[in-house]
Amino acid sequence: MCGIVGFTGEKPCAVSVLMEGLCNLEYRGYDSAGISYFDSQGTLTTVKTQGRLDRLQAKLDQIQPQSCCGIGHTRWATHGEPSDQNAHPHFTEKVSLVHNGIIENYQELRQFLAEKGYSFSTETDTETAVKLIDYFYQGDPFQALRKAAQWIEGSYAFGVLFADFPGHIYAMRKDSPLIVAVSDEGNFIASDISAVLRHTRRYHLLSEGEIALVMPDRVTFFTIEMDPIEKEVHTADWNIEQAQKGGYPHFMLKEIFEQPEALQATISPRLSHGLPDFSVNGLENGFFREVDSIHIVACGTAMHAGMVGKTLLEKLARVPVEVEVASEFRYRDPIFSTHPLVIVISQSGETADTLAALRLCKRSGVPVLAVVNVTGSSIAREADYCLYTYAGPEIAVASTKAYSVQIALMYLLAARCALDKGKMTEEEGQQFVKQLQEAAAATADVLALSDRIAVYAQELVPIHDLFFVGRGIDYALALEGSLKLKEISYIHSEAYAAGELKHGPISLISEGVPVIALATQPALLAKTVSNIKEIKARGGQVLLITREDSPVDPSCCDHLISLPNLDPLFMPLAAVVVLQLVAYHAAVGRGCDVDKPRNLAKSVTVE
Ligand code: F6R
Repeated sequence: MCGIVGFTGEKPCAVSVLMEGLCNLEYRGYDSAGISYFDSQGTLTTVKTQGRLDRLQAKLDQIQPQSCCGIGHTRWATHGEPSDQNAHPHFTEKVSLVHNGIIENYQELRQFLAEKGYSFSTETDTETAVKLIDYFYQGDPFQALRKAAQWIEGSYAFGVLFADFPGHIYAMRKDSPLIVAVSDEGNFIASDISAVLRHTRRYHLLSEGEIALVMPDRVTFFTIEMDPIEKEVHTADWNIEQAQKGGYPHFMLKEIFEQPEALQATISPRLSHGLPDFSVNGLENGFFREVDSIHIVACGTAMHAGMVGKTLLEKLARVPVEVEVASEFRYRDPIFSTHPLVIVISQSGETADTLAALRLCKRSGVPVLAVVNVTGSSIAREADYCLYTYAGPEIAVASTKAYSVQIALMYLLAARCALDKGKMTEEEGQQFVKQLQEAAAATADVLALSDRIAVYAQELVPIHDLFFVGRGIDYALALEGSLKLKEISYIHSEAYAAGELKHGPISLISEGVPVIALATQPALLAKTVSNIKEIKARGGQVLLITREDSPVDPSCCDHLISLPNLDPLFMPLAAVVVLQLVAYHAAVGRGCDVDKPRNLAKSVTVE
C-alpha cells in the first residue's frame, strides 16, 4: 500500500534507479507517482503526477534530470483522491517527504500547523507530516524527525530529504515496512527488497521507532533517543529473475505456472523421515499436543487458505478451529480456550489488519504462529513462531502461488498436529506426505489445461454476474475462485455453499447465467450434482470441475473439467489452479490490467 524507494550514490543515476524501483513497487499502488531529487546544483526538485509511472516518465523525459540522490513514491490513495496535487512527495522549501501509512491525528496536526501559519494545498494526511517536520526543523534533521515522531499518531514509513543536506536520505518507520539496502554503487531505502534487487540483495531491517541516515558510502542507524545502533545485514534469498516476467505476458500467469515448483520448495524442507517436522522453526514435535483450540486469522485469499486449513485440522487432528477475518477478529474481544493457538497467514507479512490481530493475541498471552512469504516482514518478526512459505516474490496483485503454498503448509501443520495428538500414526503420516507430494506434482497436469480453460473463459467475457458453488472444502475453493475472478476481471460474482442456493440465491439463476460448480469430493458428489440439476432446470450454464473418475453424466453440465484423481483431501491443490486460470483468461479477454487491478494494492498496510 504505497511504495517508497530512495537512492543515494556517487553517479548521477538516481532518477533511473528510482524509476526502476517504483516500477518494481507499483504493485503496492498506482494512483499517482512522483520523485524528489537533488539536481546537479544540489537543488531539491519534485516532479509528480496522477496516474501511472509512464506519465511520470513522460514528465521526466522533458527535464532529463541528472541526480545522485532522490526519493520516490507510488501511491494507493487513502486520504484525498488520486490527483497531481495529492501525489507524493509532499514538500516545503526545506523538506521533501514520501510516506506509506496513515497519520491518524492529521486533522489535529493540521489545525495546530495552520495556527502556526502553515497553509495546506492537498487533502492528504501526509502533508501534515512534512509540515510538522518543517516546523520542528532548526538545522538538525534528527531533532526534527524525533520531535515529529512524538506528535504523530498512526502508521508511517517515511523517506525524507532536507534541502540543506544534499546526498542524505533520512528514514523512519512505525507500523509500515521499510528497509535500508546497501551496495557498492550506493545505498537505498525501499518498502521491500524487490524494489532494488537489480542492484543488491543486502539489506538492513529498520525497526519501529529507529531513524536511518543513508549516505552514498555508508548507512547509520539511531534509536529515537539518538543512540547509535549496529544492525545486522540480511541477504535476500530472492533474485532479480524471480521478480521479472520471464517471457510471460503477465506476472499473474507466470506465478500460476510457478506453483509446482513453489509447492515443492515449501514442502521439502519441512520433512524428516517422510513426516512433517518443524523443529528447525522452533516447533518441536509434540508442540500441538496440548493445543485445545485454534484460531486462524487472515484476510482475503490468505483467509481462504485458512478455511482449507480448518477442514484439514478438524478432520485430521480433531481440534476445533475458527477461521476469522482479521479486521473483525481484533474488534470482537475473542474468547480463548485454556491452550489456544492462533495461526496468522499472510503473503506479505505486512497486512495491517492481520498484524493488529497478532498484536492483540500477544497482549492476551496467546501464542501466535505465522505463515508468511516475505522474509523479515513485520508479521514474521513479531509472531512467536514463523513458518515461511517459499513461493518466491509474488508481484501480481492477485495472489495465486502464495495461496497454494499456504495450503501446503496447512496440510503439513494438520498432519503434524494429528501426529502430536495421536490421531495419526507415523505410517499414516508418511502416506499422507506422499499424497501431498503427488498432489503438488499433479498441479503441473492441471496447468496443461490452460488453453482449454482459456476457451471456456471467453464465454465469460461479456457477462455481468456469475456464481461459484461447492460443498465442504469445495466451498472454501468457491470463495477463492469468486474473489479471484471479481478482483481482476470486474465481473460480479458470488460464492455459495451449494446446498444454500435454494435458500435464496437461486432466485438469481435465470437463462444463461454462468455457474462454476466444484464437485471434487466423492462423498458429496451426489448432493452437488442434485444442486447442479436445480441450476440447470432454471437455465443456468454450468461448468463442472470434478475428478476424472467421478461417475457423473456429462450431460448434467455445459462444460466439464476433469482433474487428476488425487485423494479427496488434496483436491484443492489441483482445483484452485483451474479457478485461477479461469479468472486470468476472463480478465485478459476483457482487456483488464491483470497484474494491477483497479483500486487494489498488494500489500494492505492500512486498516
Ligand atoms: C487477493 C489477495 C488479497 C490478499 C489479502 C491479504 O488475490 O491477494 O485478498 O490475500 O490482502 O494479503 P496478505 O496475504 O499479504 O496478508
